Amino acid sequence: MASIAAAVPSTVHDPERPAAALASAVGDGSEPVGDAVPAHGLPDYLQRTYRWAYLDRRMLYWLDRPAVVSAILWGNAGRLMDAAASCFDSGQHVLQAAAVYGDFSLRLASRLGRHGRLEVLDAAPLQVANLRRKLRGHGNVSARVHDLRRPLARRYDGVCCFFLLHEVPAEMRRCIVNNLLAVVAPGGKVVFVDYHRPRAGHPLRWPMQWVFNRFEPFAASLLGQDLTTLAGERPDFEWQRTLFFGGMYQLVVARSNASNAPKHSQEVFASV
Ligand SMILES: C[S@@+](CC[C@H](N)C(=O)[O-])C[C@H]1O[C@@H](n2cnc3c(N)ncnc32)[C@H](O)[C@@H]1O
Repeated sequence: MASIAAAVPSTVHDPERPAAALASAVGDGSEPVGDAVPAHGLPDYLQRTYRWAYLDRRMLYWLDRPAVVSAILWGNAGRLMDAAASCFDSGQHVLQAAAVYGDFSLRLASRLGRHGRLEVLDAAPLQVANLRRKLRGHGNVSARVHDLRRPLARRYDGVCCFFLLHEVPAEMRRCIVNNLLAVVAPGGKVVFVDYHRPRAGHPLRWPMQWVFNRFEPFAASLLGQDLTTLAGERPDFEWQRTLFFGGMYQLVVARSNASNAPKHSQEVFASV
């Protein structure tokens, strides 16, 4: 319990970028963009390392395009997104853990259909506002600000975490993974898609190493972590990993096995 609590660091507000400025950074005034920065502030690592990518609205224009996302993932974005979406069924209530540039949320929402529901949570008000703008008119999607290092109150049929973990410092991953596992209903799935260590001799191994060193300082540590054991001993979940593109990407499905659910799991994470 204590170790999970310790993994949630103190966070700071950025005085140069007040909540109101972030919250109103996207939108034309006709949409709800009123979410403020979470009470605990934006995660430190987001402000220090990924400000340019997620907190600067000028970059949205360039980064939030399917073609750019596809290029960043070496042409694999479409099939990774479809593989993740196909893990869920029409009519389900699914949590998307963090916003994703491009059309991932649209694909997921389409998969769930009009009787299903997609809820997207992201720590950055700018990303939430941008998502609401993109998904305007899609009645089965909602987005709100939430730091996923903090526990969640609701239950979902499924959870999808697409390329979030490599952007999170290693010591905070376990906390996020546990928070996501805690909210999935018995029999439901938590789906992670992220980087994985490519096979030896993969032609993009060294170029990716350079990209990680230059832009993604936490990614290298993910390559050395086994997602299926990141949350510790979890007999209440069955884990399955599928590798893509010479092992450079992984899709990990954790399926809740209700009959083995630990009796006190809710108490464990409520204290984080
Ligand atoms: C899903 S990840 C990376 C996705 C991918 N690079 C893409 O194409 O967008 C990016 C998102 O994670 C969000 N994020 C990072 N840490 C978070 C946290 N602790 N809680 C909620 N959202 C977080 C960022 O604000 C950002 O919108």
